[in-house]
Amino acid sequence: MKLFKQKPLTAYEAIYEAQKIAFAPLIFQAARSLRELGILAELEKAGKAGIHAQPIADQLKLSLYGVETLLESGLSSGIVENGAEEGSYALSKVGHYLLHDKMTRINMDYNHAVCYQGMYYLDEAIRTEKPAGLRVFGEQWETLYQALPHLPEAVQKSWYAFDHFYSDSAYPQALRLIMDREPKPRSLIDIGTNVARFTVMAAGFERELQITLVDLPDQLQNAIANVAAAGFSDRVTPLAIDLLDPANQFPKGIDIYWLSQFLSCFGHKEIVSILARVAQAMAENSRCYILETCWDRQQHEASSYALVNTSLYFTAMASGNSKMYDSRELLACIDEAGLKCIKITDGLGLSHSLFECVPKQSCLVLR
Ligand SMILES: C[S@@+](CC[C@H](N)C(=O)[O-])C[C@H]1O[C@@H](n2cnc3c(N)ncnc32)[C@H](O)[C@@H]1O
Repeated sequence: MKLFKQKPLTAYEAIYEAQKIAFAPLIFQAARSLRELGILAELEKAGKAGIHAQPIADQLKLSLYGVETLLESGLSSGIVENGAEEGSYALSKVGHYLLHDKMTRINMDYNHAVCYQGMYYLDEAIRTEKPAGLRVFGEQWETLYQALPHLPEAVQKSWYAFDHFYSDSAYPQALRLIMDREPKPRSLIDIGTNVARFTVMAAGFERELQITLVDLPDQLQNAIANVAAAGFSDRVTPLAIDLLDPANQFPKGIDIYWLSQFLSCFGHKEIVSILARVAQAMAENSRCYILETCWDRQQHEASSYALVNTSLYFTAMASGNSKMYDSRELLACIDEAGLKCIKITDGLGLSHSLFECVPKQSCLVLR
């Protein structure tokens, strides 16, 4: 599929499109306010007949000025339509999805709470290859991952909702695929475990499985607490390390090296360094599984759109050099690290691909 194909536009249409971009940050906030203040819900109640601004203002105890201003903006951006009665407003199909679609709500909340203020520093982030926008949460952090356990609650809530919404959708299928081997995998290392959601699922799926959890020291405390709450502490060993330090190695000979939504947190060179350490630690029968959302492997253009624009979060807020990768770049990293990708399974969950890798030196044995 050729992505983001442009339709031929007249000059008038192109300048209109350019205005949509020029006003996009304001329209984003207007759309959020329409949702958050309850105006979209009032429009929905009124149905196709529509409703005037005054009864909405009365019902929500807002000024007529404020409600009208937001409705007019909504009309211009296609969230709101003209109602049947002259001067009334109705909810459009786009407005319906802004109000009810879980993915849209999670993306919007995340872009507002985590990204919006910091995106102001995108130019600087691109120039310096540092997450310049992270300063909105304090000057002391080098990456968002060090900051994450210390961010304000509302920011953490939106970050986790975004992260979990996508990875949770792929975990059940991915788990069955990686465990479906003979001899049965007996050990797994969850690299970048975050709050240990995959570990808890894997430990519940296979009672014999011994799991090592890897993450940054502060983040790992949440993971350890969640594993304990699930009753799996006896089979789970935490390992607090910073994988940006090339001296930090992985335990050797583990059956499954699992990296989910993890490599997208790093730049090309760092990915190669991490994967090379995985390759060095792997035994002949070990497998390395990488679960990622690659924008070039999506079934729907809307997914690719969301992914390439999520990269901007990685630039301005997360690390300054990471992104949602194109699978060709990920495969190049895998190759440079001394691994060989022997299978890619697409279409897991909402948008994930699973890359199954072995050390290059074991390929002769596999053949
Ligand atoms: C995007 S989350 C992925 C979480 C989870 N694996 C999933 O599938 O949703 C990335 C995780 O990698 C961890 N991480 C980021 N940089 C790290 C580093 N330098 N060393 C170790 N862990 C790191 C973060 O703390 C975070 O928990």
